[in-house]
Amino acid sequence: MTTALSRLRAARRAPGTDPEGPEALEVVTCAPSVLFARALGDPGLRLRAVTRQGGTIALPVARWLGPPTEAEDEALAGVEGPALDIGCGPGRHVAALHRRGVLAVGVELATDAARLARSRGALVIEGSVFSPLPGEGTWRSAILLDGNIGIGGRPRTLLRRVRSLLAPEGHALVELDPPGVPATQHEVRLEAGDQLSAWFPWATIGADAVEGVAEGAGMAVSALWERERRWFARLAPA
Ligand SMILES: C[S@@+](CC[C@H](N)C(=O)[O-])C[C@H]1O[C@@H](n2cnc3c(N)ncnc32)[C@H](O)[C@@H]1O
Repeated sequence: MTTALSRLRAARRAPGTDPEGPEALEVVTCAPSVLFARALGDPGLRLRAVTRQGGTIALPVARWLGPPTEAEDEALAGVEGPALDIGCGPGRHVAALHRRGVLAVGVELATDAARLARSRGALVIEGSVFSPLPGEGTWRSAILLDGNIGIGGRPRTLLRRVRSLLAPEGHALVELDPPGVPATQHEVRLEAGDQLSAWFPWATIGADAVEGVAEGAGMAVSALWERERRWFARLAPA
């Protein structure tokens, strides 16, 4: 039996040849949160984000379900509480900070991820980073790791929001793509097994593009480093 996904792949290979027409390809099977929840419950299921142009963004769900990596642990060493982990997923960074005695709270849109994070002992506010949050303007640290600079699809808007959450002496720990990856706004959908999600906005930004984006958000880059082939920056309100 042909699935929506296999027809979509065939049409990508040969546009215009789908026997059921292009409208048939626009089958949306579920909201992104449903596929995300499925992948969290089944780490063997390969979850990926596909852009409208057919590019893919890897989603390392197994990593999110595990402990922080060495590079992340090192980056977290500079995090002061109270810290807000934006899009905390299953909560590994919040839990690790908690173990170090740093007060940390996650904010997470997806109910299943928030539930998993709580089961790991993390404090989590369930909702969007763009909704009103407690302690606005008083957080000493904000964390955007492992792709989360893409949340909302507009890094400058996200960083402006982060700036409004931070205390004047606070800072943000942000992970970036390697230098050379242009700052790009994408429309993506999730794919897992034979299921597709609805489109939603996401963004990617290379380490060499962060200065301009941060400046536009009223922030300045105070450190930039590479570890385990991953790129991190520390931003402070300008
Ligand atoms: C890349 S995953 C999380 C990875 C997690 N930070 C880690 O490294 O383990 C992105 C997370 O952001 C959450 N998210 C997306 N949009 C959000 C929003 N507007 N506010 C809060 N969380 C959001 C998603 O539900 C998802 O859990």
